[in-house]
Amino acid sequence: MTNPTLNDTAHKTAPETGIASLGVALPSLFLELDDLAELRGADPAKFRFGLGCHQMALCDAEEGVVDLAQRAAQRALDRWSGSVEDIGLIAVGTESAVDMSRPLSAWVAEAIGVRGAVRSYEVKHACYGGTLALRQAIEWRRSGAARGKAALVIAADVALYAPEDPGEPTQGAGAVAFIVAEPEVARVDLETAVFSEPAFDFWRPVGEDFPRVDGKFSLDCYKRATLECLGQWAGDGAAVDALEALDAACFHVPFPKMVQKAVRHVGEELGAEADWADDYFKRRIAPSMGWNQKVGNAYTASLWISVAQALGGRADGERLIAFSYGSGYGSELLGLEAGPRAADAAWFTDVEQDLESRRRLDIAAYRQLRGQAKKAA
Ligand code: HMG
Repeated sequence: MTNPTLNDTAHKTAPETGIASLGVALPSLFLELDDLAELRGADPAKFRFGLGCHQMALCDAEEGVVDLAQRAAQRALDRWSGSVEDIGLIAVGTESAVDMSRPLSAWVAEAIGVRGAVRSYEVKHACYGGTLALRQAIEWRRSGAARGKAALVIAADVALYAPEDPGEPTQGAGAVAFIVAEPEVARVDLETAVFSEPAFDFWRPVGEDFPRVDGKFSLDCYKRATLECLGQWAGDGAAVDALEALDAACFHVPFPKMVQKAVRHVGEELGAEADWADDYFKRRIAPSMGWNQKVGNAYTASLWISVAQALGGRADGERLIAFSYGSGYGSELLGLEAGPRAADAAWFTDVEQDLESRRRLDIAAYRQLRGQAKKAA
């Protein structure tokens, strides 16, 4: 008898717990990557095709991660049938903390009026922090400790690299908020696949403004984590067939080409047909990375921006996966199933509004924002 795999046990969803409501918030500025290419003397094709990025979302001088987290949370609450009195846990996954002690959740709780018998905290593990917060909230509900209360979970980040760093074209910002309660929007499988290995692929020492990155090594860590998690989830050698059985597959998106590279790696390692990976990428992955291409890497929010796009309009019962990767590094793969209200795609208006109203920066304005503008004589 073969051992059951996580994919075999996908039916073991948590029927009473999942995503009840979703909210997304994007910042008020953006830069075309063609403009960044001109500024940095790069070939625009490198950013557009080599990385798969088109635009980056940027905060103006007056906004930041707190505003993004608050706006996403308010939007998730506004379209939920419950109220703030029904919240018993508020957690923010972020690597853009604004204080070493006070959790980002306190700013959000203050803005939306959450207080009392509420567990409130921040979670950090690079881009994986939002997924960890979501998992904890689901397990808290499943354990019975929630006593019927709902959780508000937010993944929010502002991702900036040092000007001229190779990571600069992948910058971005955004937030996704979830109400974790009845699975109106999505059921989340109880069992997940996890893989972690201590590494210095991307890190930001305390007191430094920008991350340090071992770029090429980080790509290898991500690829290894993808293969390991898919292997656990599907069973040895069975990932290709298991992926084919899904309606959509979402991955952490540091830049879209990273996801394509990881899927190619899986295809090669598992001996798939030569063009399987690129074909699968086009069919099941790329259609839910359109928002990522306009937002850039929003760290903890990046995967969930892709999931939010993938879930919208799905029929009840359609299945997808969410692969989360955070440098350092830790990873987790979750199975999800569209719920009865996924088809409404109510949160699409958040993204449409924010993309439509944001202001395009020209090169001079971007240089000014990054503190690189020439001082007036
Ligand atoms: P780079 O070294 O400047 O770029 O930075 P490159 O020279 O490797 O070129 C990139 C691609 O563009 C290559 O494609 C080139 O061939 C192609 P590939 O060979 O790899 O398929 N290219 C062109 N294509 C078309 N026309 C052209 C052209 N020129 C070149 N003219 C790097 C790339 C990713 C290293 C950099 O952007 C970086 O350091 N990024 C940050 C690190 C990162 O995103 N890592 C991803 C995995 S780690 C992760 O996901 C965690 C993270 O989100 C953080 C967290 O967890 O908190 C980052």
